[in-house]
Parts: sequence; structure tokens; C-alpha cells
Amino acid sequence: MGEDVDTTAPEAPWLDLCGQDEVPEGSAVGFAANGRELLLCNADGEVWAVAERCTHAAWSLAGSELVGCEIVCALHGARFDLRTGEATARPASKPLATYPVRIENGRIRVRVPPPPR
Ligand code: FES
Repeated sequence: MGEDVDTTAPEAPWLDLCGQDEVPEGSAVGFAANGRELLLCNADGEVWAVAERCTHAAWSLAGSELVGCEIVCALHGARFDLRTGEATARPASKPLATYPVRIENGRIRVRVPPPPR
């Protein structure tokens, strides 16, 4: 959502990122996949995949605090809704990119398009 990404494009593969146990409740764990930096967040009973860098000043969101369905950037306090990527508190105003997640046999799979050219 932070960029024009068509995650429904047929070329966007479902990538097996990790086991469910590697992203415990309340954690935000960074991964690299298909040329992108992603963040898997286990919040509010679900796993969400978003871009790993804050849209304000590109601070890494890995390890950030999760509050309900929001992630809080540790650098200046921006917040993002993990369900939509929407920036819900300043200083960020642009949304985070979001990616579809599916869990199969205890594995977390994310549909990750190639990086923009
Ligand atoms: S870098 Fe995240 S709020 Fe400034």
C-alpha cells in the first residue's frame, strides 16, 4: 500500500518465510524475501506482513512495540495499522506496504511481488 504494488499479479509468488513459532505473539520479526525487506508481526491473534521500514525516515520496524493491531516506530513514535498499512499517527503520513499472509501446516507464507524497477 505504500507503493503501487499489485499483489494479485500472477507473478507474485507465495514464499515460505518461516515456521509459525518463529514469530511469537507480540513480536515483529524482519525477513528478506524476493528482494524486499519484510516484517512479520504477530498481533491481535493474527500474523501480518508489512514493509520493514518506517515511511517517515526509513527506521527499521523490526522489534517494534505492537499495540493492538498497530505497530509503533521507536524513532519518532509514528503508528501504522497492520491490517491496512495506514499511518495512524504522525510524523508518518504514507502507509506501509502490506502483503497477503497465509499459514499452512505451521509455516508462514507471504505473497511477495518482486521489487519495483
Ligand atoms: S522514522 Fe519512524 S517515526 Fe520517524
